[in-house]
This record gives sequence, structure tokens and C-alpha cells, in this order.
Amino acid sequence: MEILVGHASAHGSTAEIAEHIASVLRGAGLAARARPMAEVDDADGYGAFVLGSAVHGQSWLAPATAFVRDNLAVLAARPVWIFSVGMPGALRGPWKRMASAEIPVIEKGLPAGLRPRGHRLFSGVITAGQLPLAGRLRFHLLGGRFGDYRDWPAIDAWTTEIAGRLLPGR
Ligand SMILES: Cc1cc2nc3c(=O)[nH]c(=O)nc-3n(C[C@H](O)[C@H](O)[C@H](O)COP(=O)(O)O)c2cc1C
Repeated sequence: MEILVGHASAHGSTAEIAEHIASVLRGAGLAARARPMAEVDDADGYGAFVLGSAVHGQSWLAPATAFVRDNLAVLAARPVWIFSVGMPGALRGPWKRMASAEIPVIEKGLPAGLRPRGHRLFSGVITAGQLPLAGRLRFHLLGGRFGDYRDWPAIDAWTTEIAGRLLPGR
């Protein structure tokens, strides 16, 4: 059965990561399709899920949490991995080290009952134009630098691990 790589993205970098994950899964011989979670009303038709959302205010975007809430029963019965796309790569020094503390905060905000087999926080793209003035000031105070921080080898390695768990006979 096909794997759904579901995504929720505000400015596109999470969607591109999801497309990339789907293509790596296909390269490993699995059927996989990337789709915005907001457009999926047939979750029951997929055999496994890799779900990812941009992180705003230490939470998944509303369409992503809504998808999880609306499909909890299906997700509980099938293998699920999740990824969050934030900006730890854009931060410096102590703030960068504190980024791993964001994972439990994000998980706390997800609907209870979701039991993913794995959760990764990847860095995405952060540009000045995405943030209001107050957000830009806060970002600079945290030592942030705007840019594209996607770590494609790390994303590939995680996806290859997932493929290894889903391939028949493994
Ligand atoms: C309004 C706003 C709030 C954000 N809040 C967080 C946050 O709380 N934690 C974090 O790690 N990244 C945060 N980010 C960074 C984004 O998650 C990051 O830029 C990500 O790549 C966005 O993905 P997208 O391009 O799919 O929208 C925020 C970005 C914006 C624009």
C-alpha cells in the first residue's frame, strides 16, 4: 500500500522536504506520495505515514494537527513517523543547543493518542520577509542568521531508515 508523506507548510520548505522524502522512498522501491495534509480526506487508503509540519510558536500548523486529530484511529493502526521543520540550524551558541528541548514541547501540542515510531526536528528555510518586525528583532537577539538550513544528507539518512523498516521482509 502507498505511503503518504503528508505536509503542512507556510512558506514551502516543509513541502519541499516532504517531496524529497517521497522521492527517496520511491527510489528505495516503495510507493510513496507527498500531499498537503489539508487536502487529504482518504487517509484510510494509505498503508503508512510520514507526516511533517512547519513549526510556528513551537507548534505544528493547524492543518497538520487537524489531520492527526481527524485520523487518529487510522494512524493508531499503521506505522507513522513524524518530522517537524523549525530553525535550530539558524540559531547560535546556547540557543542552538536548547533547540532539542523544542521536540517535547511540539509533541505536547499534538493530539493525544498519536504514537509515532520516530520524530525528527529538521531545520528549514527562514527569511526576514517571513517574520513581523518584533519576530525579526527576537530572531536577531537569539543570534539568528537567515538562510536555507536544510540538511539533505540527514533527511536522506532518516528516510532510508524508514524505508528499511517498511520494505517487505524487514
Ligand atoms: C511566524 C513564524 C514562527 C516560527 N516559530 C518557530 C518556532 O517556534 N520554532 C522553530 O524552530 N521555528 C520557528 N519558525 C521557523 C520555521 O518553522 C522555519 O522557517 C520553517 O522552515 C518553516 O517551514 P515552511 O517553509 O514550510 O513554512 C517560525 C517561522 C515563522 C515564520
